[in-house]
Amino acid sequence: MAFSALLRPAMLAASRSPRMERTITRMPTTKKLVDRFVAGDSADQAVAAVETLLGSGRYVTIDYLGEDTTEIEQARTTVTHYLHMLSALARLDITADTESVRPLEVSLKLSALGQSLPRDGHAIALEHAHRICMAAQEAGVWVNVDAEDHTTTDSTLGIVGELRADFPTLGTVLQAYLRRTEGDCRDLSGPGSRIRLCKGAYKEPASVAFQSRADVDESYLRCLRLLMLGDGYPMVATHDPALIEAARNCVETTHRKPDEFEFQMLYGIRDAEQRRLVDEGNHLRVYVPYGDQWYGYFMRRLAERPANVAFFLRSLKPG
Ligand code: FDA
Repeated sequence: MAFSALLRPAMLAASRSPRMERTITRMPTTKKLVDRFVAGDSADQAVAAVETLLGSGRYVTIDYLGEDTTEIEQARTTVTHYLHMLSALARLDITADTESVRPLEVSLKLSALGQSLPRDGHAIALEHAHRICMAAQEAGVWVNVDAEDHTTTDSTLGIVGELRADFPTLGTVLQAYLRRTEGDCRDLSGPGSRIRLCKGAYKEPASVAFQSRADVDESYLRCLRLLMLGDGYPMVATHDPALIEAARNCVETTHRKPDEFEFQMLYGIRDAEQRRLVDEGNHLRVYVPYGDQWYGYFMRRLAERPANVAFFLRSLKPG
């Protein structure tokens, strides 16, 4: 309680502070902890991690790290990184054993593609995401668009809607902590939809988001049920044992088959549970981030768990 009331918001605020970023990224001990959550700086390192995960029966979604881009050139560089990564993935020559799932997927953050640029951000992000979707289609890889803070939700869902006209397998993410999400689940659970449901990782005001853990969990359960009852493909993104159990029950009561939903977890978190879910016959996808712009992603992972912060602080102590 004390942690979520004080430390979590402070860590999330720090995740968007350029001054804190300069300080924390320069600490020599930070990198060791970052390596637990990030698959490397280069596409080659990410592809090596992907091959290991695929070899263990897990699926992957790969994210080139970066967000809140304020320069058009940086957004273009991000597109180039995705195109390079997709050509590396195409060389893996992975075949899907079912039409409803692809072992390889990439995840995009629209703010990294220019969405937050002051002029024409929405249109620029749409054009950049379209180029990546085209390249992904040629590589046999599906695409998912991540959810960011609530000020971007309308723009993101708008872009996803436009892209789905050309790329009907495109998926996106809904965050259970947002008050609007139950309605979004109702709207977006039709045939062909692919929705990743997560709790939500940003610092949001009470006007738009549930603040207590219990309220977020209850919202997650309501949203999960709507998606499982719907006609789309729900992607249950959580490490929370209670929600994983609830998803299992929901699958049973809605008579979904193993090919009609999947679990998702983050790279480096609950590895044994990931393997256990695969051994039980479930599809389990790991979100694999890579690249040197890891600061925001890393800080959100620290904010999620007091033990991570304690571990980080201990690593700063000399000797
Ligand atoms: P919760 O935080 O309650 O954790 C439950 C348990 O899981 C913890 O007790 C601990 O054992 C373990 N755990 C969780 N986080 C950990 C961590 N960082 N380190 C170590 N152990 C940890 N968010 C978002 O806003 N937009 C997005 O697009 C995505 N995308 C996304 C993809 C995937 C595949 C996942 C799994 C998650 C996301 N998220 C996200 C993040 C999500 O919103 C949420 O912040 C985290 O998943 C943590 O919430 P849990 O549901 O895991 O529960």
